[in-house]
Amino acid sequence: MHKEEEKLQNALTELWDIMESAELVLMNTYNTSINLQETPDFSAVIHSILRDSGVLERIEAEDLPESNIKDENPDGSEVEEADYNTDLELNADSASGHAPLNDSSDYEYAASCRNLADITWKVNECTLCGLCETRTHAVPGNGVMNPKVMVIGEAPGAQEDKTGEPFVGPAGKYLDTWMGALKLFRGRDLFIGNIIKCRPPGNRDPFPDETDACLPYLKRQIQIIKPRTILCVGRIAAQILTGDSAGIGRLRTSQYTYEGIPMIVTYHPSAVLRNPEEYRKPVWEDLQKLLKLIY
Ligand code: URA
Repeated sequence: MHKEEEKLQNALTELWDIMESAELVLMNTYNTSINLQETPDFSAVIHSILRDSGVLERIEAEDLPESNIKDENPDGSEVEEADYNTDLELNADSASGHAPLNDSSDYEYAASCRNLADITWKVNECTLCGLCETRTHAVPGNGVMNPKVMVIGEAPGAQEDKTGEPFVGPAGKYLDTWMGALKLFRGRDLFIGNIIKCRPPGNRDPFPDETDACLPYLKRQIQIIKPRTILCVGRIAAQILTGDSAGIGRLRTSQYTYEGIPMIVTYHPSAVLRNPEEYRKPVWEDLQKLLKLIY
Protein backbone atom coordinates (compact mmCIF):
# COMPACT_ATOMS: atom_id res chain seq x y z
CA MET A 1 0.00 0.00 0.00
CA HIS A 2 1.29 3.52 -0.80
CA LYS A 3 2.29 5.61 2.22
CA GLU A 4 -0.29 8.32 1.49
CA GLU A 5 -2.97 5.72 0.93
CA GLU A 6 -2.11 4.08 4.24
CA LYS A 7 -2.38 7.45 6.01
CA LEU A 8 -5.73 8.06 4.37
CA GLN A 9 -6.93 4.61 5.34
CA ASN A 10 -5.92 5.20 8.96
CA ALA A 11 -7.56 8.63 8.99
CA LEU A 12 -10.79 7.16 7.64
CA THR A 13 -10.75 4.40 10.23
CA GLU A 14 -10.27 6.99 12.98
CA LEU A 15 -13.05 9.12 11.56
CA TRP A 16 -15.34 6.09 11.48
CA ASP A 17 -14.56 5.35 15.15
CA ILE A 18 -15.26 8.95 16.13
CA MET A 19 -18.57 8.87 14.31
CA GLU A 20 -19.55 5.64 15.97
CA SER A 21 -18.83 7.19 19.38
CA ALA A 22 -20.82 10.29 18.40
CA GLU A 23 -23.76 8.10 17.34
CA LEU A 24 -23.65 6.36 20.72
CA VAL A 25 -23.62 9.67 22.61
CA LEU A 26 -26.55 10.93 20.55
CA MET A 27 -28.43 7.74 21.17
CA ASN A 28 -27.80 7.73 24.93
CA THR A 29 -28.41 11.45 25.41
CA TYR A 30 -31.36 12.04 23.13
CA ASN A 31 -32.64 8.49 22.81
CA THR A 32 -32.44 8.87 19.07
CA SER A 33 -30.72 6.70 16.53
CA ILE A 34 -28.70 8.56 13.89
CA ASN A 35 -26.47 6.90 11.34
CA LEU A 36 -23.86 9.49 10.48
CA GLN A 37 -22.14 7.24 7.97
CA GLU A 38 -25.31 7.04 5.95
CA THR A 39 -25.82 10.77 5.81
CA PRO A 40 -25.74 11.45 2.05
CA ASP A 41 -23.52 14.53 2.35
CA PHE A 42 -21.05 12.65 4.44
CA SER A 43 -20.87 9.76 1.95
CA ALA A 44 -20.33 12.26 -0.86
CA VAL A 45 -17.43 13.84 1.03
CA ILE A 46 -15.76 10.47 1.64
CA HIS A 47 -16.29 9.50 -1.97
CA SER A 48 -14.62 12.66 -3.21
CA ILE A 49 -11.67 12.20 -0.80
CA LEU A 50 -11.15 8.67 -2.09
CA ARG A 51 -11.53 9.77 -5.70
CA ASP A 52 -9.24 12.82 -5.41
CA SER A 53 -6.57 10.87 -3.60
CA GLY A 54 -6.54 8.27 -6.36
CA VAL A 55 -7.54 5.42 -4.05
CA LEU A 56 -10.67 4.56 -6.03
CA GLU A 57 -8.80 4.59 -9.35
CA ARG A 58 -6.02 2.46 -7.90
CA ILE A 59 -8.50 -0.15 -6.72
CA GLU A 60 -10.22 -0.06 -10.12
CA ALA A 61 -6.90 -0.61 -11.87
CA GLU A 62 -6.08 -3.65 -9.75
CA ASP A 63 -7.25 -7.15 -10.44
CA LEU A 64 -9.06 -9.73 -8.38
CA PRO A 65 -6.31 -11.46 -6.39
CA GLU A 66 -5.25 -14.85 -7.62
CA SER A 67 -5.63 -17.58 -5.11
CA ASN A 68 -3.47 -20.45 -4.05
CA ILE A 69 -6.33 -21.61 -1.86
CA LYS A 70 -7.45 -25.04 -2.93
CA ASP A 71 -11.03 -26.15 -2.80
CA GLU A 72 -10.06 -29.18 -0.78
CA ASN A 73 -9.91 -30.37 2.81
CA PRO A 74 -6.61 -30.25 4.72
CA ASP A 75 -6.23 -34.00 4.11
CA GLY A 76 -6.41 -33.36 0.35
CA SER A 77 -9.86 -34.85 -0.15
CA GLU A 78 -12.26 -32.83 -2.22
CA VAL A 79 -14.53 -30.47 -0.30
CA GLU A 80 -18.15 -31.41 -0.64
CA GLU A 81 -19.56 -28.18 -1.98
CA ALA A 82 -22.80 -27.37 -3.68
CA ASP A 83 -22.60 -26.91 -7.42
CA TYR A 84 -22.79 -23.15 -7.00
CA ASN A 85 -22.72 -22.43 -10.66
CA THR A 86 -25.08 -24.75 -12.41
CA ASP A 87 -27.69 -22.55 -13.96
CA LEU A 88 -30.66 -24.70 -13.07
CA GLU A 89 -34.07 -23.61 -11.96
CA LEU A 90 -34.85 -23.82 -8.28
CA ASN A 91 -36.11 -27.19 -7.19
CA ALA A 92 -39.84 -26.69 -6.85
CA ASP A 93 -40.47 -29.75 -4.69
CA SER A 94 -40.60 -29.70 -0.97
CA ALA A 95 -38.72 -32.74 0.20
CA SER A 96 -37.40 -32.12 3.67
CA GLY A 97 -40.25 -34.00 5.29
CA HIS A 98 -41.16 -31.07 7.54
CA ALA A 99 -44.51 -29.35 7.31
CA PRO A 100 -44.52 -26.48 4.80
CA LEU A 101 -43.93 -23.28 6.70
CA ASN A 102 -44.92 -20.70 4.19
CA ASP A 103 -47.61 -19.35 6.47
CA SER A 104 -47.02 -16.19 8.45
CA SER A 105 -46.03 -17.88 11.71
CA ASP A 106 -42.34 -18.21 10.86
CA TYR A 107 -42.26 -14.54 9.87
CA GLU A 108 -43.82 -13.58 13.18
CA TYR A 109 -41.35 -15.78 15.02
CA ALA A 110 -38.35 -14.07 13.38
CA ALA A 111 -39.96 -10.63 13.53
CA SER A 112 -40.29 -10.96 17.28
CA CYS A 113 -36.46 -10.93 17.57
CA ARG A 114 -35.52 -7.61 19.14
CA ASN A 115 -31.81 -7.66 18.37
CA LEU A 116 -29.06 -9.71 16.77
CA ALA A 117 -28.36 -11.71 19.91
CA ASP A 118 -32.01 -12.72 19.94
CA ILE A 119 -31.84 -13.90 16.33
CA THR A 120 -28.61 -15.80 16.99
CA TRP A 121 -30.21 -17.52 19.97
CA LYS A 122 -33.37 -18.42 18.02
CA VAL A 123 -31.38 -19.70 15.03
CA ASN A 124 -29.22 -21.87 17.28
CA GLU A 125 -32.37 -23.36 18.82
CA CYS A 126 -34.35 -23.47 15.56
CA THR A 127 -36.35 -26.55 14.58
CA LEU A 128 -38.46 -25.00 11.82
CA CYS A 129 -37.15 -27.40 9.16
CA GLY A 130 -35.57 -30.84 8.93
CA LEU A 131 -32.00 -29.52 8.75
CA CYS A 132 -31.99 -29.16 12.53
CA GLU A 133 -31.78 -32.95 12.69
CA THR A 134 -28.55 -33.22 10.71
CA ARG A 135 -26.66 -30.05 11.65
CA THR A 136 -23.74 -29.98 14.08
CA HIS A 137 -24.01 -26.22 14.54
CA ALA A 138 -26.39 -23.70 13.08
CA VAL A 139 -24.56 -20.77 11.47
CA PRO A 140 -26.47 -17.55 12.19
CA GLY A 141 -23.81 -15.32 10.56
CA ASN A 142 -21.67 -12.63 12.12
CA GLY A 143 -20.13 -9.22 11.64
CA VAL A 144 -20.63 -5.58 12.55
CA MET A 145 -23.73 -3.38 12.73
CA ASN A 146 -24.20 -0.97 9.79
CA PRO A 147 -21.62 -2.84 7.73
CA LYS A 148 -20.46 -1.40 4.45
CA VAL A 149 -21.28 -4.77 2.91
CA MET A 150 -23.46 -7.66 3.98
CA VAL A 151 -22.30 -10.75 2.11
CA ILE A 152 -25.03 -13.33 1.63
CA GLY A 153 -24.15 -16.86 0.55
CA GLU A 154 -26.22 -19.96 0.12
CA ALA A 155 -25.76 -22.24 3.10
CA PRO A 156 -23.08 -23.38 5.51
CA GLY A 157 -20.67 -26.04 4.25
CA ALA A 158 -18.76 -28.68 6.20
CA GLN A 159 -16.31 -26.30 7.95
CA GLU A 160 -19.07 -23.88 8.85
CA ASP A 161 -21.23 -26.69 10.25
CA LYS A 162 -18.27 -27.80 12.36
CA THR A 163 -17.53 -24.32 13.76
CA GLY A 164 -20.82 -22.38 13.65
CA GLU A 165 -19.01 -19.56 11.80
CA PRO A 166 -19.90 -18.36 8.27
CA PHE A 167 -17.53 -18.71 5.33
CA VAL A 168 -14.53 -20.20 7.12
CA GLY A 169 -13.70 -22.93 4.60
CA PRO A 170 -11.76 -22.44 1.34
CA ALA A 171 -14.56 -20.34 -0.21
CA GLY A 172 -14.57 -18.10 2.87
CA LYS A 173 -10.81 -17.63 2.79
CA TYR A 174 -11.02 -16.63 -0.83
CA LEU A 175 -13.93 -14.30 -0.07
CA ASP A 176 -11.64 -12.62 2.50
CA THR A 177 -9.10 -11.89 -0.25
CA TRP A 178 -11.83 -10.34 -2.44
CA MET A 179 -12.91 -8.10 0.39
CA GLY A 180 -9.31 -7.31 1.33
CA ALA A 181 -8.71 -6.12 -2.24
CA LEU A 182 -11.51 -3.58 -1.62
CA LYS A 183 -9.98 -2.69 1.79
CA LEU A 184 -12.93 -4.24 3.55
CA PHE A 185 -12.41 -6.48 6.53
CA ARG A 186 -14.37 -8.78 8.81
CA GLY A 187 -14.88 -7.27 12.24
CA ARG A 188 -14.84 -3.76 10.82
CA ASP A 189 -16.75 -3.46 7.54
CA LEU A 190 -18.70 -6.65 6.97
CA PHE A 191 -21.55 -8.83 8.08
CA ILE A 192 -21.44 -12.32 6.59
CA GLY A 193 -24.38 -14.67 6.48
CA ASN A 194 -26.34 -17.12 4.41
CA ILE A 195 -29.83 -17.70 3.03
CA ILE A 196 -30.21 -20.77 5.21
CA LYS A 197 -28.48 -21.22 8.52
CA CYS A 198 -27.95 -24.98 8.61
CA ARG A 199 -25.95 -27.19 6.30
CA PRO A 200 -27.93 -29.33 3.87
CA PRO A 201 -26.53 -32.89 3.97
CA GLY A 202 -23.87 -33.39 1.30
CA ASN A 203 -24.24 -29.70 0.44
CA ARG A 204 -27.25 -30.36 -1.74
CA ASP A 205 -29.30 -27.37 -2.84
CA PRO A 206 -31.69 -26.22 -0.10
CA PHE A 207 -35.32 -27.25 -0.56
CA PRO A 208 -37.94 -24.50 -0.89
CA ASP A 209 -39.54 -25.29 2.48
CA GLU A 210 -36.10 -24.89 4.08
CA THR A 211 -35.49 -21.52 2.46
CA ASP A 212 -39.06 -20.43 3.27
CA ALA A 213 -38.55 -21.29 6.92
CA CYS A 214 -35.16 -19.60 7.18
CA LEU A 215 -35.58 -16.45 5.08
CA PRO A 216 -37.43 -14.52 7.80
CA TYR A 217 -34.27 -14.67 9.96
CA LEU A 218 -32.25 -13.10 7.17
CA LYS A 219 -34.87 -10.39 6.61
CA ARG A 220 -34.88 -9.56 10.29
CA GLN A 221 -31.06 -9.52 10.35
CA ILE A 222 -31.09 -7.02 7.49
CA GLN A 223 -33.62 -4.81 9.30
CA ILE A 224 -31.52 -4.83 12.45
CA ILE A 225 -27.98 -4.52 11.11
CA LYS A 226 -28.86 -2.04 8.32
CA PRO A 227 -26.10 -2.82 5.82
CA ARG A 228 -25.14 -0.12 3.35
CA THR A 229 -24.96 -2.66 0.50
CA ILE A 230 -25.53 -6.36 -0.09
CA LEU A 231 -23.23 -8.68 -2.04
CA CYS A 232 -25.12 -11.79 -3.00
CA VAL A 233 -22.84 -14.68 -3.99
CA GLY A 234 -23.86 -17.72 -6.02
CA ARG A 235 -26.81 -18.89 -8.02
CA ILE A 236 -29.11 -20.06 -5.23
CA ALA A 237 -28.74 -16.90 -3.15
CA ALA A 238 -29.16 -14.79 -6.28
CA GLN A 239 -32.31 -16.57 -7.43
CA ILE A 240 -33.89 -16.32 -4.00
CA LEU A 241 -33.00 -12.70 -3.29
CA THR A 242 -33.90 -11.44 -6.76
CA GLY A 243 -36.98 -13.66 -7.06
CA ASP A 244 -35.81 -14.50 -10.59
CA SER A 245 -34.99 -18.05 -11.68
CA ALA A 246 -32.61 -16.93 -14.45
CA GLY A 247 -29.04 -18.17 -14.43
CA ILE A 248 -26.40 -16.35 -12.42
CA GLY A 249 -24.66 -15.28 -15.62
CA ARG A 250 -27.66 -13.14 -16.43
CA LEU A 251 -28.65 -12.14 -12.90
CA ARG A 252 -25.24 -10.58 -12.25
CA THR A 253 -25.70 -8.13 -15.10
CA SER A 254 -28.46 -6.22 -13.30
CA GLN A 255 -28.48 -4.16 -10.15
CA TYR A 256 -31.11 -4.78 -7.50
CA THR A 257 -32.37 -3.64 -4.15
CA TYR A 258 -33.28 -6.13 -1.47
CA GLU A 259 -35.38 -4.89 1.44
CA GLY A 260 -34.49 -1.41 0.22
CA ILE A 261 -30.70 -2.04 0.23
CA PRO A 262 -28.68 -1.78 -3.01
CA MET A 263 -27.54 -5.27 -3.99
CA ILE A 264 -24.91 -6.67 -6.37
CA VAL A 265 -24.99 -10.29 -7.51
CA THR A 266 -21.86 -12.23 -8.38
CA TYR A 267 -20.47 -15.73 -8.71
CA HIS A 268 -19.77 -17.81 -5.62
CA PRO A 269 -16.12 -17.84 -4.47
CA SER A 270 -16.18 -21.65 -4.74
CA ALA A 271 -17.09 -21.37 -8.41
CA VAL A 272 -14.20 -18.95 -8.98
CA LEU A 273 -11.77 -21.23 -7.14
CA ARG A 274 -12.79 -24.03 -9.44
CA ASN A 275 -12.75 -22.02 -12.63
CA PRO A 276 -10.68 -18.85 -12.18
CA GLU A 277 -10.10 -18.37 -15.91
CA GLU A 278 -13.79 -17.94 -16.54
CA TYR A 279 -14.99 -16.14 -13.41
CA ARG A 280 -12.23 -13.94 -11.99
CA LYS A 281 -12.75 -11.10 -14.43
CA PRO A 282 -16.54 -10.85 -14.10
CA VAL A 283 -16.28 -11.06 -10.31
CA TRP A 284 -13.79 -8.20 -10.29
CA GLU A 285 -16.17 -6.15 -12.43
CA ASP A 286 -18.99 -6.89 -9.99
CA LEU A 287 -16.84 -5.90 -7.03
CA GLN A 288 -16.08 -2.57 -8.70
CA LYS A 289 -19.82 -1.93 -8.97
CA LEU A 290 -20.16 -2.78 -5.29
CA LEU A 291 -17.39 -0.34 -4.37
CA LYS A 292 -19.19 2.44 -6.19
CA LEU A 293 -22.32 1.76 -4.14
CA ILE A 294 -20.43 1.93 -0.87
CA TYR A 295 -18.93 5.39 -1.32
N1 URA B 1 -20.65 -21.34 1.09
C1 URA B 1 -21.69 -20.54 1.43
O1 URA B 1 -22.50 -20.16 0.59
N2 URA B 1 -21.77 -20.16 2.70
C2 URA B 1 -20.88 -20.49 3.65
O2 URA B 1 -21.03 -20.07 4.80
C3 URA B 1 -19.83 -21.34 3.25
C4 URA B 1 -19.72 -21.76 1.97
